[in-house]
Amino acid sequence: MAFKVNLRALFSEGWLVIPCAFSEAELLSLIAERLNHEYRPAHIGRDDSIRLEQSVRTDKIFWLNANVDPVVENYLTFMGEIREEVNRQFFLGLFDYECHFARFEPGDFYKTHVDAFADVRNPRGNRKLSSVLYLNKDWQPEDGGELVIYEPHTGKELTRVLPEMGTLVLFLSEEFPHEVLPARRVRQSLTGWFRNRPERV
Ligand code: OGA
Ligand code: MN
Repeated sequence: MAFKVNLRALFSEGWLVIPCAFSEAELLSLIAERLNHEYRPAHIGRDDSIRLEQSVRTDKIFWLNANVDPVVENYLTFMGEIREEVNRQFFLGLFDYECHFARFEPGDFYKTHVDAFADVRNPRGNRKLSSVLYLNKDWQPEDGGELVIYEPHTGKELTRVLPEMGTLVLFLSEEFPHEVLPARRVRQSLTGWFRNRPERV
């Protein structure tokens, strides 16, 4: 997986949609990996006040652990390349990457939210850049389930992304409110966050 992605728009706009970011074979192995795991209801909130809140999100997730999931190594390598490239070009100081698979049953949703709030005292560092890779073959517009990204100050809709297999979305975690609309089909994705290095304060 050679690094060929042009990230410039990520920094002029703060978000970027990359169709066909992975080969079919890579996507298939990610999809196979996903089937081995049990999903659990997702939670919301910051690390110290995490709660189950089904009025906000109804999807199920499981966290990836690089040590026990050798088949996702390619994916993690690719995300590591993005991290290095972003740091090299844009000095974001990304340090760590965490990700989970997410499964939305028909009708599930995730209401408008922001993935992170700036907090210099967060001992884990803050989420700075969000990523979502979709794993749904032949997704049609009538299947719904779009990711909608909003302009931070005006709330104007910036883009609507169909969760089609291989599409990768990147956006600045502290900036962009976004939501997942209900879908008619099962909707699966691999969602992750790059964190910066915790500040010593
Ligand atoms: C999230 C999220 C978007 C998507 O998990 O925080 O916003 O398209 N997911 O699945
Ligand atoms: Mn989110």
